[in-house]
Order: sequence, then C-alpha cells, then structure tokens
Amino acid sequence: MTLAASHPAGNPSAVMPEEVRLDQRDFAKVAAIVDREARIALQPTKATLVFSRLSRRLREHGLSSFRDYLTLVEADAVERAAMVEALTTNHTHFFRESHHFDHFRESVLGELQERVRAGHSVRLWSAGCSSGEEVYSLIMCMFGTSRSKARWAVDGDVKVLATDLSARVVAAARNAVYSEATVKPIPDAYRRQWLREEGADFAVVDDARRMVTARELNLFGEWPMRQQYDVIFCRNVMIYFDDAATSELISRFSRLLRPGGYLYIGHSERLIGPGAEGLVPCGQTIYRKEGSQ
Ligand SMILES: C[S@@+](CC[C@H](N)C(=O)[O-])C[C@H]1O[C@@H](n2cnc3c(N)ncnc32)[C@H](O)[C@@H]1O
Repeated sequence: MTLAASHPAGNPSAVMPEEVRLDQRDFAKVAAIVDREARIALQPTKATLVFSRLSRRLREHGLSSFRDYLTLVEADAVERAAMVEALTTNHTHFFRESHHFDHFRESVLGELQERVRAGHSVRLWSAGCSSGEEVYSLIMCMFGTSRSKARWAVDGDVKVLATDLSARVVAAARNAVYSEATVKPIPDAYRRQWLREEGADFAVVDDARRMVTARELNLFGEWPMRQQYDVIFCRNVMIYFDDAATSELISRFSRLLRPGGYLYIGHSERLIGPGAEGLVPCGQTIYRKEGSQ
C-alpha cells in the first residue's frame, strides 16, 4: 500500500520524477528513526507531510527514491539529523496561550523579584523554544513596560535558557529579529519599549538578548544544566511524544525544578507518570512543585 503517492499540488514533474513513492515500508522506517532519535511519534496520518518535507531532501541529494534516501540517512548522522529536523513542527507565536503569561505576571514575577533581591539567581527554561517567541514573551513580562521596571532583571542574576532540537530555529531564537506580522501579538507597551526597527523587521533589544542562552538540545539526550530552575515552559512539545516519553520527561522536569518552581505545559497536554505526583495544579495547565525554598 502506498501512503503518499501523489506529488504536492503545483508543478510536480518539474520537481520530482513521477515514479517517486513513499510506501508503507519507507514510512515505517522514517517513523522508527524519528522515534529513536527524538522520541517523536509519527502517526500514519502524517504520511503526506513526511512525503512533502522529505521530497525536498531527496531533491537536494539528487536521489529518486525514498529507499535510496533512507540508506543515506542510516549511514550519515548529519543527514539523519537533517531529516529529523525537517519533520519537526515549529509553529509558535508571541504570547501564545496568553493566560500563561497573565499567570506568570500575576503569580510568579513577584516571587522572582524577591529572590533576586535576596541575592539568589533566577533561572527560566523554554524547552522546545522554536524560534524564540515564547522566550521573549516571557522576558517582556519580566521587564514590564519601562526600563526602570526592568532593572531588577537586567541587573540581577537572571538567565533564560532556550533550547530546541532544530538548529534552524535555535539560530532564529538567538538572532531575535522578527517580521512585522510576527510581532503583531505583542502588546503595544512592550513593543514600544523592547523592540527596535531593523529595516522592515523588528529586533529584540540587547538587554533581553543578553539574558538568553540559545542552544540545540534534544530533550531525550543529556541535559547540561547543573542548577535547579524556577520556571520551565515546555508547551506544545509533548504532544509529539508517546506516553512513555512524556512520563520520562515530566520526571526529569520535576527533578530539575526547585521546590516551589513552576511548570507550564501546552493546552492539549497533560502530566503523566510518577514525576507528576509532586507537581500541584495551580492554574490552567500550570503546575507548581511541592515545597518551598
Ligand atoms: C510546536 S513547537 C512549540 C514552540 C513553543 N514552545 C510554543 O508553544 O509556541 C514544538 C518544538 O518542539 C521541538 N521538539 C520536538 N521534539 C523535540 C525533542 N525531542 N527535543 C527538543 N525539541 C524538540 C520542535 O523542534 C519544535 O520547535
């Protein structure tokens, strides 16, 4: 059975030879590799997406069958990473699921300010940050609407880690330059203060960029952090994983959070497994680790 036999709409013959097919065996192989490398669970309903995204990679390598492409992928770690990256979904936007940012401002910010005033460091992590909109939304919430309000964060030991599997989006998060359409959801008071025009685009100000460490990181690999975190955002990432992978990740997040720290997850995600036990709901898809410190 052929899962995705048709070419993307448009001008197929100019792009791919007519006979290129992604059959069930090819799809199963792609799914097994993506599961092994990133724990992403590809359902057969994604066959058309796999076909169209990987067709580009076949073209780049001058290959005319998925079988040949998969032989290359098995032999070449760089192409394997490129294939996994091509199959990630990086959709995001500024102030996505805005109730999380309301909660952060109203219930968490004061605590973080207190911690900095008491001489502690503050650490936040956007895990699966995509192109950085989530990261800078958080920082704008910390900065508020004026330079004086932002001083505690700019001058304090406050750092934000932004990680993703995809090198392309990590580079965009580090670059922090966004189109006019992309910055639209940012409230005006923040836009005026924390963005500057750069040609037709908008760059996030240096004070915000300096707080961010943007790194490639597979959530199922080694984590380099040695310190506990005050806040972790991992939103709209676990939807791509199966229950075993999600449960493993929740346990790791729970261990990394300091007692009293917060975990924010996406609207269609849920906490499962033993790691969820010490995480108490304190808002819509917001959890607080038991204890205080
Ligand atoms: C839909 S985006 C979510 C972006 C942002 N958190 C938000 O909610 O708007 C999901 C991101 O998770 C990343 N991702 C998927 N699997 C991953 C893994 N195993 N390790 C790290 N990042 C992963 C993808 O590359 C993608 O950028």
